[in-house]
Amino acid sequence: MGAIEYRRGNALDLEAVIELYRASTLGARRPVEDRERMGAMLAQANLVVTAWEGELLVGVARSLSDFAYCTYLSDLAVRVSHQRRGIGRELIRRTREAGGAAQIILLAAPRAVDYYPRVGFTRHPAAYVLEGGVSP
Ligand SMILES: CC(C)(COP(=O)(O)OP(=O)(O)OC[C@H]1O[C@@H](n2cnc3c(N)ncnc32)[C@H](O)[C@@H]1OP(=O)(O)O)[C@@H](O)C(=O)NCCC(=O)NCCS
Repeated sequence: MGAIEYRRGNALDLEAVIELYRASTLGARRPVEDRERMGAMLAQANLVVTAWEGELLVGVARSLSDFAYCTYLSDLAVRVSHQRRGIGRELIRRTREAGGAAQIILLAAPRAVDYYPRVGFTRHPAAYVLEGGVSP
């Protein structure tokens, strides 16, 4: 496999991003069939780090950050063919570095519950989620 290059920014081809979500299996847990919603998720994210093998998008970390206190890492995805090569770890490292003092907060997907402790995260016993409201 070739060298992996990392980039920052959300000026990405939406179709390539959706394809990556599918190719990582995260697509099963994200609204990949709703192109408009996926487009908003990408456009409004203000801290996006991507991994590339040549022109092939192989990984993404999509976050929202205030670059001072907190970064919400919503989606971390690495193409199945490229997993377990340290790409996820490097995407997290760069996300953390870009956030400065901000702590990274996330919800682990079922398959990644055992991943985050391996890359330095601690489980928070007091996390809560309020589901999104729907338009009246
Ligand atoms: C979870 C995911 C992002 C990890 O990315 P990755 O590039 O394969 O992970 P890395 O190569 O950086 O792995 C770092 C370490 O964690 C281990 N690891 C990787 N995936 C793991 C998993 N699912 N569970 C437990 N440990 C895992 C690796 O073996 C490695 O261990 P080492 O430091 O002893 O070598 C990737 O598997 C993925 O995209 N999964 C599907 C989508 C998903 O569930 N995303 C999380 C959404 S919250």
